[in-house]
Amino acid sequence: MVTVLTPAVLRLLAAAPELAAAVVPGDLQVATSLRSTWPADLVAAATEQAALRARASSRLRDADAMVLTAAGLEQATSTAVARHRAARVAASATSAVDLCCGIGSDLREIVAAGVRAVGVDRDETHAWCARHNSGAAVAVADVRDVRLDGVDAVYVDPARRAGDRRGGSDPPLEWCFSLPVARVVVKAAPGLPLSAVAPGWEVEFVADGRDLKEACLWSPAWATAARRATVLPAGVSLAADPSTPQAEVRAPGRYVVDPSPAVTRAGAVADLAALLGDAWQIDERIAFLSMDSPTATPYGRLLEVAASLPFGVKPLGAELRRLDVGAVDLRRRGLAGDVDDLRRRLKPRGSRHAVVLLTRVDDKPWALVCFPVGPAGN
Ligand SMILES: C[S@@+](CC[C@H](N)C(=O)[O-])C[C@H]1O[C@@H](n2cnc3c(N)ncnc32)[C@H](O)[C@@H]1O
Repeated sequence: MVTVLTPAVLRLLAAAPELAAAVVPGDLQVATSLRSTWPADLVAAATEQAALRARASSRLRDADAMVLTAAGLEQATSTAVARHRAARVAASATSAVDLCCGIGSDLREIVAAGVRAVGVDRDETHAWCARHNSGAAVAVADVRDVRLDGVDAVYVDPARRAGDRRGGSDPPLEWCFSLPVARVVVKAAPGLPLSAVAPGWEVEFVADGRDLKEACLWSPAWATAARRATVLPAGVSLAADPSTPQAEVRAPGRYVVDPSPAVTRAGAVADLAALLGDAWQIDERIAFLSMDSPTATPYGRLLEVAASLPFGVKPLGAELRRLDVGAVDLRRRGLAGDVDDLRRRLKPRGSRHAVVLLTRVDDKPWALVCFPVGPAGN
């Protein structure tokens, strides 16, 4: 049963913590027994809250104490990413307005970072949730009607337009770029076309582990680079410097670094090669880097190369058998083809887990059978 979560229902729920503690999502017997004491829609709403909190707990801190809606949770920034942004806001602003604050996942991190902040959302239920979750004042209004005189900094996380992964948003990015405040930071989809970003704004691509989460756009007063790659949870950030020379191109050596998607999207592969010191690219147009010594980096996954060969299903299958490989993580870069079909045709049966890079070397289709070095993650 999907309940309608209104501020009135949420207020009743907040006043009945014993109900919240008693519900068990998916347990009909418990729900039936609770309905003998509590109104049925309140039991349904409490059950829905419990399910949402359970769903939120993998990416939002203290999810058990939050008030959520399904739509609000779906659009909420994860705690790791929200904290990173909030720390950067707090480094140069003492007060901020969170326009489009949703259920307040970003807002509570901005507050926790020591910034005096208020939120605005036109959705009354989201505003109620944000108030509860952040402890900040939250106004119910259309952000286009908000006066921003004297405001130190603004954060906007516009609603994504349904099905649009390339940056279409409400309010639109152009509106965010024209806000009359010097310090503005806007959350955008990581696939947004860079041509849609206003001149002078920094684009920070943020990855959490291997997942590219977002493009965070910082106004010129805040920008410290045109593009940068940030990798969490390490919390490290690499600026793409247009004056960094392209890395040397050579055949793969003993190790490969598969850069974080934040690094490739930011165009910072040459900067990563320079940071690693003795790294080179395995092909002019391919972002895999190679090294002769195992230098670990938070900006990519370090792999040891066990076999390097021109791509072909039969020779690759033979190498996998020789290396006793059973499970393969197939990574394709610069080579077309159906990965699932290839996995079926390779039929690996051994006991080891390998990462197989399907790529190009000297513009020829190439395969590298690799084993991860150190802990998985970036
Ligand atoms: C992506 S969510 C914000 C998520 C939030 N940053 C978080 O981490 O919880 C976007 C929010 O923008 C609100 N919104 C969209 N257009 C708006 C407008 N013109 N005025 C006010 N709020 C708006 C929606 O109601 C929604 O709650």
